[in-house]
Amino acid sequence: MDLAKLKQELKKDFNLSKSSEDLQKLKVKYLGKKGKITDLSKTLGKLDQKDRPIVGKKINQIKTLFQDLVKSSSKRIEDFELDNEISKETVDVSLPVGKIFAGGLHPITKTIDKICSYFSAKGYLIEEGPEIESEYYNFDALNIPENHPARDMHDTFYIDSGKLLRTHTSPVQIRSIEKYNVPLKIICPGKVYRSDSDPTHTPMFHQIEGLLIDENVNFGNLKKELIDFLNYFFAKKLDVRFRPSYFPFTEPSAEVDIMDKNGWLEIMGCGMVHPDVLEMAGIDSKKYSGFAFGLGIERMAKLDYSIKDMRVLFENDLKEISGS
Ligand code: PHE
Repeated sequence: MDLAKLKQELKKDFNLSKSSEDLQKLKVKYLGKKGKITDLSKTLGKLDQKDRPIVGKKINQIKTLFQDLVKSSSKRIEDFELDNEISKETVDVSLPVGKIFAGGLHPITKTIDKICSYFSAKGYLIEEGPEIESEYYNFDALNIPENHPARDMHDTFYIDSGKLLRTHTSPVQIRSIEKYNVPLKIICPGKVYRSDSDPTHTPMFHQIEGLLIDENVNFGNLKKELIDFLNYFFAKKLDVRFRPSYFPFTEPSAEVDIMDKNGWLEIMGCGMVHPDVLEMAGIDSKKYSGFAFGLGIERMAKLDYSIKDMRVLFENDLKEISGS
């Protein structure tokens, strides 16, 4: 056996090895039962006495070379396999990115937040009341007794035994007076319900109620508070008009209109809290007076986000309500 040739073959084999399995195969090829180096060792016995140590030494050299090659190749193969693994895991940063839907708040929520934080900064407490309300809070305590024609204006969803879905957020006025007494400044967002459905009405919609009670509160205070708020909300000086109206729980009452592209647009009801409402709630109406207002959130959101059909706000089509 030509040892020089064997050495060469060995080196070549190791150079070509690319994986741990290749190395395993080489171990079998050279050192296995029928391996080339093993075979060589077997021939030692047949050699002349004097040649044995010389050839034996050479075989040992080859074994040492084999071990060295295993060591260096293992390192090379390990690095190679690791590189391979890593290259499979790389992210191609030049690939186009899919659209990310980050989620966002609904225009109604954003409008409520905007209005509440404005009034909250002015010292109004944010209050909420129940959506399932009693006839007492929704009507009687607001100066709308049974058989009063104003009850018909509300298209009420009745439940049973004096319970109903509140038709406005005004009952929170009474609940808050009972809870905090006067003087008082509250802002109450929430859902209200009326049996009504067409392009400008939905059976459920949102209102925000405002109430301020103190000594010497007058209609001028109400006007200023609302005009300041509207200018802030729409971020411009608006033409605002207070049109005489009627609500059983305010006297005098007014409806507030703003000038829009298409003319005057009604956006809220307001007025001075009716003395009877104050007295019913146990407040001395000679000492205290107050104003209240109630506005429709959908209408404000529609104007703020230029939404044409109010039903868009309830259909949850992301194309329509996201990014607004
Ligand atoms: N509650 C009235 C409505 O729903 C609005 C309103 C609130 C009017 C407060 C006056 C004062 O139409």
